[in-house]
Amino acid sequence: MDPQMMTSMFDDVERVLVSEQEIHERIVALADEMNAIYSDADLPILVCILKGAFMFLADLTRHLQFRHEVDFMEISSYGAGTTSSGVVRILLDLASSVDGRHVVIVEDIVDTGHTLDYILRNFAARNPASVRVATLLNKPSRREIEVPVDFVGFEIPNAFVMGYGLDYAEQYRNVPYIGVLKPEVYQEGTED
Ligand code: PRP
Repeated sequence: MDPQMMTSMFDDVERVLVSEQEIHERIVALADEMNAIYSDADLPILVCILKGAFMFLADLTRHLQFRHEVDFMEISSYGAGTTSSGVVRILLDLASSVDGRHVVIVEDIVDTGHTLDYILRNFAARNPASVRVATLLNKPSRREIEVPVDFVGFEIPNAFVMGYGLDYAEQYRNVPYIGVLKPEVYQEGTED
């Protein structure tokens, strides 16, 4: 067998930054914050920003006690490398209208803030009743543009994180915790 085939993707993880248990407990607490704000009558739409937020949305929604809908939007930054280029595009738009609706943007990470800034400006033009933002991870030290964030799971340092929906070169999204990738893994390649 090719020796490459015998290595595990877990060998590429330098360390665990946020464990499965910590993620679970924090999501339950975040859901409680949201349960205190929204009611059935609000019927908010949770907008999952694909791809990175799919796992966060799936776990968060199970702990919400008010009626809500979910919808999906795929956003990507142009450019290669491990950092956002600041140029953002919509790959998949919402199925539903948010006109007059309460919206919760669900993100996996806010880094430079360019993606969220783009999303918020885009939503402002769609005439929602309100917009709040939930992000599992926040890297405030990396911010290049000020963006409002209402629900934050974890503030993290400027490390290259992956797992729990977050990728490197489209891999590692299935890792069940937030890990820090070994530098040699992403220094070998240039893909986002
Ligand atoms: C990631 C993440 C955010 C964005 C944050 O998306 O999901 O949307 O980058 O970076 P910023 O604050 O510097 O703009 P990515 O473009 O990697 O797409 P993905 O979610 O499909 O992996």
